[in-house]
Amino acid sequence: MNNISIVILAAGKGSRMKSNKAKVLHNISGKPMLYHIVKESLHISDDVSIVVAHQKDAVIAEIKKHFSNINFIEQDDINFPGTGGAMKNVTPKNSHVLVLNGDMPLITAEALQGFQDTRADIVLSIFDLKDPSGYGRVKIEKDEVSYIVEQKDANVYELAITHVNAGIYSFKKEVLEKYIPLLNNNNAQNEYYLTDVIKMAKDDGLVIKPLLVDEEHFKGVNSKVDLASAEVIMQERIRNRWMTNGVIMNLPHTIYIEEGVKFEGECSVENNCRITGNSVIKNSIVKSSSVIEDSTIIDSDVGPLAHIRPASHVEGTHIGNFVEVKKSTLKGVKAGHLSYIGDSEVDEGTNIGAGVITCNYDGVKKYKTKIGKNVFVGSDSQLVAPLEIEDDVMIAAGTTVTSGKVPKGSLAISRTKIRFLEGFYYKFFGKK
Ligand code: UD1
Ligand code: MG
Repeated sequence: MNNISIVILAAGKGSRMKSNKAKVLHNISGKPMLYHIVKESLHISDDVSIVVAHQKDAVIAEIKKHFSNINFIEQDDINFPGTGGAMKNVTPKNSHVLVLNGDMPLITAEALQGFQDTRADIVLSIFDLKDPSGYGRVKIEKDEVSYIVEQKDANVYELAITHVNAGIYSFKKEVLEKYIPLLNNNNAQNEYYLTDVIKMAKDDGLVIKPLLVDEEHFKGVNSKVDLASAEVIMQERIRNRWMTNGVIMNLPHTIYIEEGVKFEGECSVENNCRITGNSVIKNSIVKSSSVIEDSTIIDSDVGPLAHIRPASHVEGTHIGNFVEVKKSTLKGVKAGHLSYIGDSEVDEGTNIGAGVITCNYDGVKKYKTKIGKNVFVGSDSQLVAPLEIEDDVMIAAGTTVTSGKVPKGSLAISRTKIRFLEGFYYKFFGKK
């Protein structure tokens, strides 16, 4: 839609978040709030701008990681604080301007459609809340908006209004050009409020229409409590999308899946799993209480209670309970119980016994372990890296391999000979 420009306000401090991090950079489903808004905005406009000030370098850097076609506009937040101040340097290309608060991560392109369908000088999103606290109250008379009053400036009658400003507006460009320079900061917060444009425009006889929207898409995030409840909604969307695409989930409300994760083929995910980053799960089962971070799982079963850490590739493999894999490639492997496999490559037909540990760290540097085909690694072995175990090797249970290399076809065994001290038990504990 090219007669619409979008401006996202992301310059505020977000002090109610009680955090050193800019509010708009707090994550929902693994991506900053602002990322979600930008992604949806680009579906409806080719002129998307973000207003920045507080922690602007961090905000710009984060957005540039994901998008290349965004304009950044700097707010003079010292002299012109507030959402109205944020609009001072905005010069949109198109005839209509959609202004979005940067703390509305649940917005979708579809939900923004109503702003294009409603004709007026200003359209503003409202919802009705039993508990309107925190939001600006919207005075509506004869189906038109008269003014918005912020909670901190409202009298008792206005505080009782349950229509609240959701924080998205569509303006004709000339309305912004006329009224933004006229804003003042005579209010409880000494800020320039974008919402004051409404009253001035109304007094001049402009048409200001309310657009009733749902909280599920238009919820503003101001605190950590809001962040958590927005996450619940976003997670439900992500899970429903994948279930609609054929993924089986047991007790889906207990499963956390980040926005970058992809499923392909026939997959199922059991309760309490967490799958993050850009993980790809293809034709695999992720059993209960497993964590998969930024890894690829193909034709495999993982868990219950397994931890696959970033940059792992697990293919045609069985990973059982209490197995941790980090930055490793496992193809056609069985690792059924209680293992740590880090910085490793493990090849086809290899069995990793219970309690096997790759010792990849000497306290200073990390080292690699390479295990060939059809290797049988006995239980409770320590594989001290750097190490290469060639094909068709047996490692006896309880062996500590420190040799750097184990040649093809051999048995590696390091054990002290077992001794029996007759009657020792009775000497130690006495006779019962
Ligand atoms: C704002 C509205 C309020 C509405 C609510 C909906 C105003 C004055 N109030 O209040 O009526 O009910 O949103 O969620 O607009 N920002 C800047 N520069 C600033 C200050 C804020 O860019 O100087 C940005 C913030 O980064 C944020 C957005 O504007 O993304 C909204 O700011 P916030 O402080 O959350 O406004 P609210 O108090 O929630
Ligand atoms: Mg807000």
